[in-house]
Amino acid sequence: LRPALVLLSAKAAGELRPEHHVLAAVVELVHIATLVHDDVLDEADIRRRAATVNRLWGNEQAVLMGDFLYSHAFHLCSGLDSQFAARLVGQTAVTVCEGEMMQVAKRGCYELTEAEYLDFIHRKTAVLVEACCHLGARYAGADDDTIERLCTYGRGLGMAFQIIDDLLDLTGDESEVGKSLGRDVCERELTLPVIHYLCAAAAAERERLLTLLRGDGPQRHREIAALLRRSASIAYAQDAAREYIAAAGQALALLPPSPARDSLATMAEFVLARRQ
Ligand code: IPE
Ligand code: MG
Ligand code: MG
Repeated sequence: LRPALVLLSAKAAGELRPEHHVLAAVVELVHIATLVHDDVLDEADIRRRAATVNRLWGNEQAVLMGDFLYSHAFHLCSGLDSQFAARLVGQTAVTVCEGEMMQVAKRGCYELTEAEYLDFIHRKTAVLVEACCHLGARYAGADDDTIERLCTYGRGLGMAFQIIDDLLDLTGDESEVGKSLGRDVCERELTLPVIHYLCAAAAAERERLLTLLRGDGPQRHREIAALLRRSASIAYAQDAAREYIAAAGQALALLPPSPARDSLATMAEFVLARRQ
């Protein structure tokens, strides 16, 4: 997804140049580095339909592998003529790490607000997706308005992506999604439908959910999903994702028509509809 966003943003904004291929590799390396570390934090066994690095070789190797991937990304960036990418990717990686650290710090906090959750996912996911679009447009020689529109698209896409990702963690099918699920409940990280339910449900239902959240059965995310399905909370999170995609689509509509713009619009629809 992220390399494709670099290349499509470039084409939607101007000319594809040799730097874009380097940048596409850079963003994917940074992304994979965050995932390899995230799978240590989340004690996940499966990623992209394969065993995780931590499961195959242990946490120590996974920490080193994440560092190795980050280092490769910045080494590649340093070979570009302009330092813009190194600055943006560096700043973005800092923000992603902040998002992950903030989320881990708030594990087990059942008073987490929607605003805090949105801040976490903005940092850990949306800034990198936005940076992909920014890099694509900037290195294609786009003007400031075009860059801003593609950044807005990327931000909306990233927010929706993570909201749907968190819904899949709760309600998805592991063989379909291709990664370990139920990790948020297991690691006591609150996501949007749970936050909504805790705010909106009557006292007895709220207590029921809190009991499940505080429990320690490995499959209790299934019971939680069933509870939430009987409420409006799943639909609430889906609607929130839909709104971010709508904002992304509006920004895209301000760009001149092109096959690349159509692909970006299709990508936004995919993020909402995806089951994997
Ligand atoms: C992924 O977060 C890590 C980053 C976005 C940096 P999650 O823990 O929520 O995502 P998955 O479910 O493991 O992919
Ligand atoms: Mg995580
Ligand atoms: Mg995870």
